Order: sequence, then C-alpha cells, then structure tokens
Amino acid sequence: MDQTVRQVDRLVSGMPTNDGAGVRLTRIIGQPGLSELDPFLLLDEFRSDVAGDYIAGFPDHPHRGFETVTYMLAGRMRHGDNQGNTGLLRPGSVQWMTAGRGIVHSEMPEQEDGLMWGFQLWINLPARDKMTEPRYQDVDPDAIRTIQRPDGSRIKIIAGRVDGIDGAVRSAATDPTYLDIGLPPGSAFRHGVPSDHAAFIYVFEGDARAGEGEAATQIKRGDLAVLSPGDTVVIAAESVSATRLLLVAAKPLEESIVRHGPFVMNTEAEIHQAIEDYRAGRF
Ligand code: CO
Repeated sequence: MDQTVRQVDRLVSGMPTNDGAGVRLTRIIGQPGLSELDPFLLLDEFRSDVAGDYIAGFPDHPHRGFETVTYMLAGRMRHGDNQGNTGLLRPGSVQWMTAGRGIVHSEMPEQEDGLMWGFQLWINLPARDKMTEPRYQDVDPDAIRTIQRPDGSRIKIIAGRVDGIDGAVRSAATDPTYLDIGLPPGSAFRHGVPSDHAAFIYVFEGDARAGEGEAATQIKRGDLAVLSPGDTVVIAAESVSATRLLLVAAKPLEESIVRHGPFVMNTEAEIHQAIEDYRAGRF
C-alpha cells in the first residue's frame, strides 16, 4: 500500500510567559503564533532549576470543557482538587485529567530547589462530552510501556499504539497518540498515524528532521512542527547528535471553539454559564 509521508507544514517557536501564581513557562500552542491546532488548545513546557521560576505553583483554579495532560520529566508536583482527590506527579509520570463539566484543582511544586521540567497539553472535548463527569487517569512511570529498538531508539507510549503495544491512556473522543521518542545519532523512526488526525512534533533535546526526501525539514530544540496530512510520520536524528521529542496526534473535532481562560466551550452562552456556575460554587 502506498504511504503518504507527512512533511513539515510550518514551524512554530514557543513564547515565554507566566501562568498560575507566577510560574515561568514557554507556551507553544495557545499563543499568537499558533492559537490552536484542533483538537489541541494549549501546549506548555516548564523547565527551570531556579526555584523562583516555579515555586508559586498553580493554586486553586477551574477547568471546564476539555482534557489536560501533564507529563513530568523532572521534579515533583502535588495535585489536589475540590472532590478530595490528591496525587503526586513525579519524574516520568502522567496525569490525564478530563475536566468535563468542571473541576477546581491546584498543581503545586513539592520541592524547594532542583529542576522542574515537564509539559502540559490541553485537548478539546466534543460538544457531546464537554459536560461529562470529571475524571483522572494518574499513570505511574512504570505503567508506561517503553519500546527499545535494536538501533538504540526508545519510544515511551503514553497514548496510542506502537508495535502492537497500547499506551497507558485512552480517550475515546479524539483517539490521541502521545509518544516520547528518544533517537540516537543517525537513527530514524517511522510511525503510522491516521490520515485524518492532526499531528505535531515538539523537539525538546537536540535537533531532529521530519519528512522524507527533498522536503525533509530540520526542527530545532524548542520548535514545534505542524505536520501535513498523510498516513506516515518519519522522524530522524541528525548524524552527530541524539534527539528527544514528543509526537502527538489526534482527531480534529471541527466544532466552534469559544475560549475564556480555563473554560473552553462551543458558544458564548456556554462560557457565560461556566463563569456563573464557577462563581456559584457548582463545579
Ligand atoms: Co489546571
């Protein structure tokens, strides 16, 4: 069967910003250069070994209408919510939170120094699921399957399927793929992604190349590549250096999006309702 290799449609650099009570981070999706990539609403990378950049954390705040995926590479973050749930995010762990009709939670550093490094991705929910019951999928590092290839490449399957192995998390509405891929110098990775899914690569160590042939494009550390339609993703490390990146894909929703901070709905009226419900303590 013919394969259509996805090329790099565009490259986007993150924008330094502050969120929570003053946490310094880089916003890659959800900023003027890339306001959204349906169904993805936001991608942040937080990475600092200066406590002042993260110590204030994210005190109590609400979410409604989408899912948040937090993936920790270094550091420890305690989360707690208004339903009495609590948990500790530690290096290599994932929290997949379906905010649904509403949650009020906090995400606070559980360390006073050292490196804090990770990502938060927001994935939209379709209209029919926006008011679903909130739920968490907390995934310990050892529950995330990692594939080691003979060429030294390493693929952590947070969501999706590689070599017949399923990822730790599933989300029916958008059928996401979320892979953490480490490639040694000169190696490459090919992966089938449904052709109707939106897909991006975010490089967080070294540089990578995506695509094939003349159109293969270099992606520098800190850049996000939006991939063209196609059914196969091809990623390679440069010949002299290793690379590490996220490959993320999901089914677009193709619905209207109205966002107001931590509320993402389909209409203005639903946003007003969300604000009203939050103020009235109905989350
Ligand atoms: Co939050």
